[in-house]
Amino acid sequence: MAEYTISFDNDRSISVPSGTLLTEAAVQAGVLISQPCGGQGRCGRCAVKVLNGGVRRRSTLRLSDEDVAAGYALACQTVVEGDAQIIVPDQDTLDRTLTTDRTAVSVLVPAGYDVKRDQSIQRFHLTLSPPTMDDQRDDWSRLQTAVSQQTDLPQLAISLPVLRQIGPVLRQGDWQVTAVVALEEHAARLINLLPGHVPDDTSFYGLAVDIGTTTVSVWLVELGSGEVIAQTAEYNRQIRCGEDVISRVIYASKNSGQAELRRLVLESINTLTERVMQKAGSERQVASEQVVKATIVGNSIMMHLLLGIPAESIRLSPFVTAVNHLPPFTAQEIGLGIHPEAEVLCLPGVASYVGADITAGVLSSGLDDAPEVSLFMDVGTNGEIVLGCRDWLVTCACSAGPAFEGGGVRDGMRATRGAIEAVWIDGRTYEPTLRVIGKSKPRGLCGSGLISLLAEMFLTGVVDKGGHLNEHLPTERMRQSDSGPEYVIAWADETWHGRDIAITHVDIDNLIRAKGAVYAGIFVLADSVGVPLETAEQVLIGGSFGKYINVENGIQIGLLPDMPWENFKFLGNTAVLGAYYALLSQTAQQRIGEIAGRMTYIELSADNSFYEAFTSALFLPHTDLSRFPSVATQVEDANLTVTDS
Ligand code: FES
Repeated sequence: MAEYTISFDNDRSISVPSGTLLTEAAVQAGVLISQPCGGQGRCGRCAVKVLNGGVRRRSTLRLSDEDVAAGYALACQTVVEGDAQIIVPDQDTLDRTLTTDRTAVSVLVPAGYDVKRDQSIQRFHLTLSPPTMDDQRDDWSRLQTAVSQQTDLPQLAISLPVLRQIGPVLRQGDWQVTAVVALEEHAARLINLLPGHVPDDTSFYGLAVDIGTTTVSVWLVELGSGEVIAQTAEYNRQIRCGEDVISRVIYASKNSGQAELRRLVLESINTLTERVMQKAGSERQVASEQVVKATIVGNSIMMHLLLGIPAESIRLSPFVTAVNHLPPFTAQEIGLGIHPEAEVLCLPGVASYVGADITAGVLSSGLDDAPEVSLFMDVGTNGEIVLGCRDWLVTCACSAGPAFEGGGVRDGMRATRGAIEAVWIDGRTYEPTLRVIGKSKPRGLCGSGLISLLAEMFLTGVVDKGGHLNEHLPTERMRQSDSGPEYVIAWADETWHGRDIAITHVDIDNLIRAKGAVYAGIFVLADSVGVPLETAEQVLIGGSFGKYINVENGIQIGLLPDMPWENFKFLGNTAVLGAYYALLSQTAQQRIGEIAGRMTYIELSADNSFYEAFTSALFLPHTDLSRFPSVATQVEDANLTVTDS
């Protein structure tokens, strides 16, 4: 097959066979091109400029005629058919510096946790009798005898790499050694053998890891005390292969996609691990060899991709995972940059779209032990919802789409510098006031900004309850575009990129569908157990979404149930907190297993009432305004104010 030379940004060149996708050529050339939709030609964000065109565009669906005339092509939909020069424009690059690194964090070990005794990693000081001409037992038998005589451990398992070490270590320690052991269900495994009796105040460490679709978080914890030494987080490096889980599963199904996604998430975790070890400071000097345990949570697709397990069945009906309950692994098996024999617990999930991040979140939120009925929700590209108390738990997941993370909206963006995070609209002039993240001109709207904007547009009559823009509004901010009416939030001379920022009818439609799916999920869940939503004592909101969302706005658009604001509790990253509890305590680890076993999962796509509930929720705030009495009052007040003026 003919080979052609593709040069990127006049800087890197690669020779590839005819028919190669530009995105694949870019990977081989070491050039980053984001593929937010996983290379399906849906998002239009992988557009590149082709200067000398030996290429064929298979689809230009997301490009305007002007773009194509100017030489643009979707890299994921364009194949090489000759030599070509490609310019990769500045993409929506992630500002990694916006992630938080924290040390000396005060996370309290929950009451009732006996960190020392309930820890699965234990150390034992052993004294062995040295071999003699009369006692020629092998080293491993000698060690096993010492373990059975000096501890109450069950039979000890050992891997080949540790077996290789024991002879030299026994002699180096003059037959006095410290065994570091992982207590696994009905078994014990020798992780490390150290010469001499290592003092009890010598620390061993563990990692609590949450693999979010957007963000990966890592905590470094001293196992003996439960002290969190350092925390850090960064964007999941898989993002460039797809912004949502489905796009990533599709990406994984291509050529080397699966291996690439596994490599990228490991790169994220290992980079963050190095960073937390550095953050531990010079007095502690935490070495990777001292990190002997990790607990990992994430949604089911993230867990499959981490382990290199095909996730295609999760996407396709009847939507099943390959595995929900995973056995313990070693760090070496997974590829984590800590002690190779470290115990790695991938915590259990419930179903395809209710993963370990939710079971861990339920544990850390205390929902499974609450006497009263509570609602737990974690909203990202998927909304995962749990309703229940100490006696019962039901759960479901609904596809919210990427709108709440700024995706699927023309001027949407993630919550980084330059994102509009809150909007207020003057009900008389229709002029907006904006709050922008960081000291920057606005670049776009993030999820909380979109929710705030939609609520304000509804209350001021910029949109009606069906989400239709009022095209007769007496303001130049309402105008017609190629794709229909739109409302301008910031003019070009006010923005970072010199382009107007506006919200279109299509954007509003996507937002209403997203909020409608979440509310319908909540409603169907409550209905399935015959519990009126109003009787829920509290609404526990986990995940970063909860950190920024304004409850009032959430209720106004009909995303959150209409309840007193004080009933809403924002818990932050409940997933990593649950992983932390499981890192400290075998009891917590077992409790997460019990939570996964106790949850009744409701598959919404198989539930007829969901479609009805969803259709009813495609209004602002809802077709049935009596479900949102506080919003009904506000709408009435707003109308009165406008009429008075
Ligand atoms: S259109 Fe190419 S990655 Fe989305």
